[in-house]
Amino acid sequence: METVIRLENVVKIFYNKKNKKLPEERRDVIALGGVSLEVNKGEIFGLLGPNGAGKTTAIRCIAGILQLNSGKIYIKNQELNKSTAHVFRRDLGFLTENHGNYENLTLHDNLQFFGSFYALNNLEERIDTTLKQMGLLERKEMKAGKLSKGQKQRLAIARTILHDPEILFFDEPTAGLDPAASVHVRNLILGLKRDDRTIFINSHNLEEVQKICDRVAILDYGKIKRIGEPSELGKDLWDAQELKCLLKDPISTEINAALSKLDYIKKYKIEDKNIIIYSDNIDETTPRIVKELVRLDANILEVRRTVHSLEEIYLKLMDEEHLGDQNGF
Ligand SMILES: Nc1ncnc2c1ncn2[C@@H]1O[C@H](COP(=O)(O)OP(=O)(O)OP(=O)(O)O)[C@@H](O)[C@H]1O
Ligand SMILES: [Mg+2]
Repeated sequence: METVIRLENVVKIFYNKKNKKLPEERRDVIALGGVSLEVNKGEIFGLLGPNGAGKTTAIRCIAGILQLNSGKIYIKNQELNKSTAHVFRRDLGFLTENHGNYENLTLHDNLQFFGSFYALNNLEERIDTTLKQMGLLERKEMKAGKLSKGQKQRLAIARTILHDPEILFFDEPTAGLDPAASVHVRNLILGLKRDDRTIFINSHNLEEVQKICDRVAILDYGKIKRIGEPSELGKDLWDAQELKCLLKDPISTEINAALSKLDYIKKYKIEDKNIIIYSDNIDETTPRIVKELVRLDANILEVRRTVHSLEEIYLKLMDEEHLGDQNGF
């Protein structure tokens, strides 16, 4: 697997020394306190975290907009620093938190203006293709200020992808959009992944991240708390994992007696035709239990592992980290 973005122990501190109104201990903000992560080619990577966690700072560092205090960032195995930042400009597209369109310019003129930074030789053609891709071609000569919120966001995405970059950063791409507009933007992002681009998303929308991200990092107070596939993140957060087996008939005393003798399960309970089993390693336990039930002649209708949603994982993590502490919000 090819690593496209690599952060090694990245530290970013904002100094507000001159602000005498703030108490001394709050003048310096450690926005990133030693962040390490890797993003692979073609993957959608999600960065989650509460307000002020450091998500936007992370993207701005990777995009070469902010200088680091320490640590290293590599883009396509080449170190990012003052002298190399310009090399990556063509490779990167960055959708900022505020869409940043010029409201008094037409869609075409917005794209022409931003496109001119990249000296594209087929700019007019690129403008048409990109507007079409974003479903905005028929509004090409309309002023950006007249667009709906969702359309404005699509114009901003058009700007982000106009120069056909390999790596895309989306900072809160669906914030403030209604459900239909969010789905539209989300599908557009998934479409961009199909073109083998690498996509880095900051988001608060846990359901969205779970749906579209291949891997996720949870950031809090500038530190990574968890990193991995959405389904893997919660593995050690709960005392035991859960497996539900639904049988055709109510559970017999014979099955109950056999289950009570299994030493590889933590505990189990019976609810009519359901057996709910708790185990430390559900991946290993599941096939053994199924074999046991088959041996007992049980008519199995369904076997289902309970996978915790990203929302449950996130809330549990935040609960542990912020117990009695609301500073991050
Ligand atoms: N330019 C700046 N000068 C001083 N402090 C800053 C600056 N930019 C960010 N910070 C501080 O750094 C911390 C991280 O901010 P950041 O914007 O990266 O958080 P975030 O995770 O993107 O939050 P949100 O979800 O609200 O967008 C915050 O405490 C913020 O006040
Ligand atoms: Mg932010």
